[in-house]
Amino acid sequence: MQLVKTIAALEAALASARAEGRQVGLVPTMGALHEGHASLVRRSVEENDLTVVSVFVNPTQFNDPKDLDTYPRTPEADARLLESFGADIMFAPTPEEVYPEPDTRIFSYPPVTEVMEGPRRPGHFNGVCQVVSKLFMFVRPQRAYFGEKDFQQIAVIRAMEADLKQGVQIVSCPIVRENDGLALSSRNALLTADERELAVNISRILFYSVAYASSHTVKETHATVVAALNALEGLEVEYFEIVDAHTLQAVKDWDDAEEVQGCITVYCGHRPVRLIDNVKYK
Ligand code: PAF
Repeated sequence: MQLVKTIAALEAALASARAEGRQVGLVPTMGALHEGHASLVRRSVEENDLTVVSVFVNPTQFNDPKDLDTYPRTPEADARLLESFGADIMFAPTPEEVYPEPDTRIFSYPPVTEVMEGPRRPGHFNGVCQVVSKLFMFVRPQRAYFGEKDFQQIAVIRAMEADLKQGVQIVSCPIVRENDGLALSSRNALLTADERELAVNISRILFYSVAYASSHTVKETHATVVAALNALEGLEVEYFEIVDAHTLQAVKDWDDAEEVQGCITVYCGHRPVRLIDNVKYK
């Protein structure tokens, strides 16, 4: 695996693959890699001739500077893992390389940017679109791989690709979970042992709610999930929305959309750590 830090080195590393018309897959990440990322990289390795993994903690998508400071960074371990996952190129640029000038572009894709994370993390999806559109420009991949844990992010990136038409197929990959159900996340590394035990209730209650939903209304299911999680000391639901999986608009009735997803954000523990998860109802 080649480790490159500049756009010029990336261009050089990709030159022969491009000239030979080889298919390039991109897995954008912010590092602190885990098995969830491994599944994206392995899928890209299977489906492309060459896989580029970007490792870049993108400052423009953090609306809270403390969150940016405490975001886990493990570059050496990331490089070792990427090698073992079968990646060909690790692209780990500096912020100055990606943003030689402040990025003043504004991305807004209603309705998917206007709900859930949108109003709660102002500027977050704008920053995600800034960096992902740049990564698409630098790498020019045929396919890019994103995890479904960030369910709304995929919808936003699909909207961005429909707008900018950078010729990238957006591939969404299922959530990878610990054996007990906790969705894998780089933020899990910030949990204490006690908080880690507490956090498992998020997926446990979401899974329970899928069975519950078959004989209850959307409103009852929503209320049950929120009440069950808030009843546990150390957990606090920021939002739980039961939405049309495509428009991300809240549904009132299970028949309001063909595909329905429950998306949740929960604060866990003292710090607290903000954890997200989602589940498919239909
Ligand atoms: O999902 C993430 O890790 C980030 O939002 C992404 C897509 C790598 C952009 O920085």
